[in-house]
Amino acid sequence: MSDDLSILAIETSCDETAAAVVRNGREVLSNVIYTQIALHTEYGGVVPEIASRKHVEKINPVVRQALADAKMELKDVDAIAVTYGPGLVGPLLVGVNCAKAIAWAAGKPLVGVHHISGHISANYIEHPDLEPPYMCLVVSGGHTHLVEVTGYGEYRIIARTRDDAAGEAFDKVARAIGLGYPGGPKIDKTAREGDAHAIDFPKGKVRDSEYDFSFSGLKSAVLNHLNSCKMQGIEVNTADIAASFQRSVVEVLCERSMEVFDNSDMDKFALAGGVASNTALRNALADALAARGAKLYVPSPVYCTDNAAMIGAAAYYEYTAGVRHGYDLNAVPNLSL
Ligand code: KG4
Ligand code: ZN
Repeated sequence: MSDDLSILAIETSCDETAAAVVRNGREVLSNVIYTQIALHTEYGGVVPEIASRKHVEKINPVVRQALADAKMELKDVDAIAVTYGPGLVGPLLVGVNCAKAIAWAAGKPLVGVHHISGHISANYIEHPDLEPPYMCLVVSGGHTHLVEVTGYGEYRIIARTRDDAAGEAFDKVARAIGLGYPGGPKIDKTAREGDAHAIDFPKGKVRDSEYDFSFSGLKSAVLNHLNSCKMQGIEVNTADIAASFQRSVVEVLCERSMEVFDNSDMDKFALAGGVASNTALRNALADALAARGAKLYVPSPVYCTDNAAMIGAAAYYEYTAGVRHGYDLNAVPNLSL
């Protein structure tokens, strides 16, 4: 008998139907992602009901493909893991019910995973040397958290956003300047052709907190800029707006993260979540950390945006810590970290 532990993981919290097989929390044997982006593009954002229906249609083929790619059958895996929150309730329910059915039918243990814990754990896949404690900036479409990872699956939140998440700001601004959905990758690309110092957008500050983030003011500033250009008949330069907006987000994330990092006793820093695939953010944090003699841990882009391999990585540490869920596991849309 081998001591290896293989987990079949499922992720359906938003608009990606994903399944993966991960061995010992760090080795990805398969990683299948069916992205619904094209389906939601014409609506300018994710439509929860459409997402739920597509998950229902795709979940079985995606799980089958993940097992086939890993050259495994259900009997070969040791546990079934699934994201049970936070996220959209309909999409979450599809994954949770699928995982429960498989766990019951195959007689395998069930492990529910927190989506953000999954994003953070994506860093374990390609960085065998990364172990807690470390600091992690999680920036996704729904979350902006600066956390101390004190142990596997153990988190202390240092700062969070008070309003929009970083990814949400990217998506809203992209829509306003006509780049469409999903905004993050489009702004990332368009910004390369623009002047990041063309416009000085504000960096959101929260009055009663040293470190918390706020991105709604920045979004309003971009809208105001667009309006005033329109009223004065000035042609807007989309690339300059994208680059200037992105500079503002990157600077605030980077400066605040380094302030917290410098005041902590942590010596490792990781980045996670969909926005972690942003080129400017990765470069700025890598430079800031290099200046401090530290390195930036960041997943490859495919493990930054939603995927099930990260859920398999997080589930391994939950499973080995003894976490098991019953068939009463439910979707929890606002699950806290
Ligand atoms: O983690 P994720 O796939 O889903 C959530 O859990 O929310 O993150 C999706 C978010 C979207 O807001 C998307 O615009 C953003 O990540 N994103 C990016 C980039 N790629 C994805 N934001 C900035 N630059 C990118 N390259
Ligand atoms: Zn996510």
